[in-house]
Amino acid sequence: MKFNSQLMEELVTTYGPSGNEDNIRIYIKEQIEDYVDKIEVDSLGNLIARKKGNGKKIMIAAHMDQIGLMITDIDKDGFLRFTNVGGISPYILMSQKVIFENGRVGVVYVEPIEDISKLKLSNMFIDIGVNNKEEAENLVNIGDICIYKPDYSENDNVIHTRYLDDRVGCYVAIEAIKGIKNPKNDLYFVFTVQEEVGLRGAKTSAFKVEPDIGIAIDVTGSGDTPKAKTFAVGLNEGTAIKIKDNSIITHPKLREHMVNIARNNDIPYQMEVLEHGGTDSGAIHLTKEGVPTGAISIPTRYVHSTIETASKKDILDSVKLLIKLLESDIQL
Ligand code: CO
Ligand code: ZN
Repeated sequence: MKFNSQLMEELVTTYGPSGNEDNIRIYIKEQIEDYVDKIEVDSLGNLIARKKGNGKKIMIAAHMDQIGLMITDIDKDGFLRFTNVGGISPYILMSQKVIFENGRVGVVYVEPIEDISKLKLSNMFIDIGVNNKEEAENLVNIGDICIYKPDYSENDNVIHTRYLDDRVGCYVAIEAIKGIKNPKNDLYFVFTVQEEVGLRGAKTSAFKVEPDIGIAIDVTGSGDTPKAKTFAVGLNEGTAIKIKDNSIITHPKLREHMVNIARNNDIPYQMEVLEHGGTDSGAIHLTKEGVPTGAISIPTRYVHSTIETASKKDILDSVKLLIKLLESDIQL
């Protein structure tokens, strides 16, 4: 399998912050509709694509929403104030370009401050290049969300871009949908909404699908950069099989099964113990009386920054593991 640069670039550059996933949902639907038996959108906006099979009912979740900034106020000179949608650091946000759904670009800066350690989202503003409030209001409204302006680069080894979280998970799910010809299990691929604000889409879609088994696909961090906190996950070391994050302890037998699949197919893998953060797996495993759930993670440096970095080989290994896992007979 070759790395599909076009798919990856289109995924990370399509607008879709939490609660505003229309554009990215349309894009993903177009990519997969010829490869699935049934496709639907639930009332929260989750895209649910089924590949019918006779075995276990498996829900595979990748979130399609992305972090952004929501406008809270427009002042008389046309400067915008905002709140965060998902985890945004002011230090990363400082002097970035942002873009609204209508294509309007703005830049983020800060009021004069003496002490940079006092940098907070509340003393920052967005300049969209207008002269006054009225001009601004013709372009943006309170409640509109802007995202980091798309920027994509790759070399033979890695991708540097914003929004690998979690468009790389969407990439892995899409490539698995295309790669699985005769599904053995009954597969429900769910591209979820509103993960970044509390795993909300996974919660409702898992309730609807009622899976026997859940698998989330998302980014994890890496411990392989200068003086990084100890974390036994690194780039180019293979796909990561999650043991825990703050939302889940994955099902031990499912995890063991995933490890066996990786071993038997010579897929490089590493075990992930993440001490912070959560994934859609956290919502799925608590559905109804409980769902055995695991997660495949893509090792990623600088998560939630504008320069998230992942290895193309790890991404391809993640696709391989997901396909082999979904094609396997899973006895828990
Ligand atoms: Co995230
Ligand atoms: Zn994520």
